[in-house]
Amino acid sequence: MKKIIIANWKMNPPTFKEAQEIFSRIKKELGRIKNLEVVVCPPFVYLSEFKKPGQIKLGGQDCFWEEKSGPFTGEISPAMLKNFDCSFVILGHSERRKHFGENYGQVNKKLKAALSAGLMPILCVGEETEERAAGRTEKTISNQINLALRNIDKALLENGFIIVYEPVWAISTSKIRHDCSSREINEAVRLIAGVLSQALGEKISRKIPILYGGNVNEANAKQYLNETKIQGFLVGGASLKPKSFAKLVKAAAR
Ligand code: PGA
Repeated sequence: MKKIIIANWKMNPPTFKEAQEIFSRIKKELGRIKNLEVVVCPPFVYLSEFKKPGQIKLGGQDCFWEEKSGPFTGEISPAMLKNFDCSFVILGHSERRKHFGENYGQVNKKLKAALSAGLMPILCVGEETEERAAGRTEKTISNQINLALRNIDKALLENGFIIVYEPVWAISTSKIRHDCSSREINEAVRLIAGVLSQALGEKISRKIPILYGGNVNEANAKQYLNETKIQGFLVGGASLKPKSFAKLVKAAAR
């Protein structure tokens, strides 16, 4: 399975000009990409600039669950993302769960809509500091997965999706932050693989890539890949710095 590196730009950069610069510098720094998939997820308003992005794939940072366009102020449909050459979409990111109160049911509807539209969903799961401290990591992650998959046809899920383990306490902008160790990542990967296999069976679950996110940068990427079973990264802060992002990607390609 090819490694996958996903850039999550979040609500950055502040101007269109900077977005163009970062994107073209990333392309230049990366050169020819071999053996792995690179996906950039910019804010929606910059997507049009990156149409036909060559070897780099595009993704949205979220989408709505209604398939048809209609009276949903502020929302973007999966079909609209497809129209802008997006093939991926991030769903259930902890920042959306936290700041916008996105709940399990909503993530479930979004996942279903994204799969139906032919997008590759990137489903984020991971526990908060308090959940880990209270010994609720397992419960939180299995709920996040099982409720996201609830009542979705296996045939649809077979189209494929990606899971990212992203412990909220390891994200670079978290107030109280510490690095996730390789051992902690492996524990989470084992847990996620177990939940997936119970929910979907071995055949489907084996094909679902499990990525890691949380302060991944050029300094720790190689070590994480060597010491864990992850198949790639979701990268926030470091993906806005073209030189370090390219170094990170190259480290993963080796
Ligand atoms: P980070 O963000 O790499 O800046 O920690 C990752 C994410 O939140 O997706």
